[in-house]
Amino acid sequence: MIIVNTLAKLKTHFNQKIEEIYSSNEANSLFKIFVKEYLNIDAYKIISEPEMRITESEYLRFRKSINELLQHKPYQYILGHTYFLDLKIKIDNNVLIPRPETEQLTQIIIQQNNNKTINNIIDICTGSGCIAIALKKNIPHATVDAIDISIDALKIAEQNAKLNNTQINIINDDILSLKTNLKKTFDIFVSNPPYVTMSEKKNMNKNVILHEPHIALFVQDDDPLVFYNKIIQFFKKYANPNAVLYFEINEVKASQLTSLSQKYNLDIEILKDISNKDRFAIIREL
Ligand SMILES: C[S@@+](CC[C@H](N)C(=O)[O-])C[C@H]1O[C@@H](n2cnc3c(N)ncnc32)[C@H](O)[C@@H]1O
Repeated sequence: MIIVNTLAKLKTHFNQKIEEIYSSNEANSLFKIFVKEYLNIDAYKIISEPEMRITESEYLRFRKSINELLQHKPYQYILGHTYFLDLKIKIDNNVLIPRPETEQLTQIIIQQNNNKTINNIIDICTGSGCIAIALKKNIPHATVDAIDISIDALKIAEQNAKLNNTQINIINDDILSLKTNLKKTFDIFVSNPPYVTMSEKKNMNKNVILHEPHIALFVQDDDPLVFYNKIIQFFKKYANPNAVLYFEINEVKASQLTSLSQKYNLDIEILKDISNKDRFAIIREL
């Protein structure tokens, strides 16, 4: 048996195991991430210091993570955190792992609004709280409310607000049949609601299907815009003059959402994500 007691041996061992299910490029990237997190070592040292000693407890930590990776567990859940814009966000399997597209949406909102007078913001389907917290950080004079149906997700959102030294108002409710009596109106509405249809599930990666919360992801094929419809009604009821509603959307539903917005006499603009897919909708009163 080879004793894994140097950085080079650790890398060989890690790659051999991980390449059972990941490409060699992915294995290399994952190794760099775990080395940085567990050993606090920058990637270049993997090349420059191959003989660096690895203790048994360090090796055992890697071994546990290798087993979890082989069960298709996303590395962010193994580490228990991820990064969203410049914020560290705690996550567990009760919350969706924040995606780069959602960072892009949040950046758009910040760019369009940080010079304006914004009093109240609401993030519907907040999950880890990533959008709400990033908005509060960047538009600090505004209050930010954050709704989710999942109490376990909201516990994480609350911890994330604390971790990032900021304050958001957490609301546990179902946006499809809201019971909370909201005593204010809002300038910015944002939502990244569940939008993957059940028929799209078969094309999804095992990492997602096996580990991410299905309540955060899926909608029925016969009513794919159920959340968008309700949130537009909510916007109609609680919008201040000149309010804006920002959505992340399923790239194949942009034209359906456009028709829906027109039915409510709203103006809609569709923007593309970094992969050139229709990914964001910006909705306003005409
Ligand atoms: C796609 S995730 C978005 C999470 C986070 N905002 C992000 O962008 O990473 C959707 C979220 O909607 C929540 N959700 C699902 N059904 C809901 C409902 N009926 N009312 C409120 N929230 C709901 C889920 O718990 C989940 O946190």
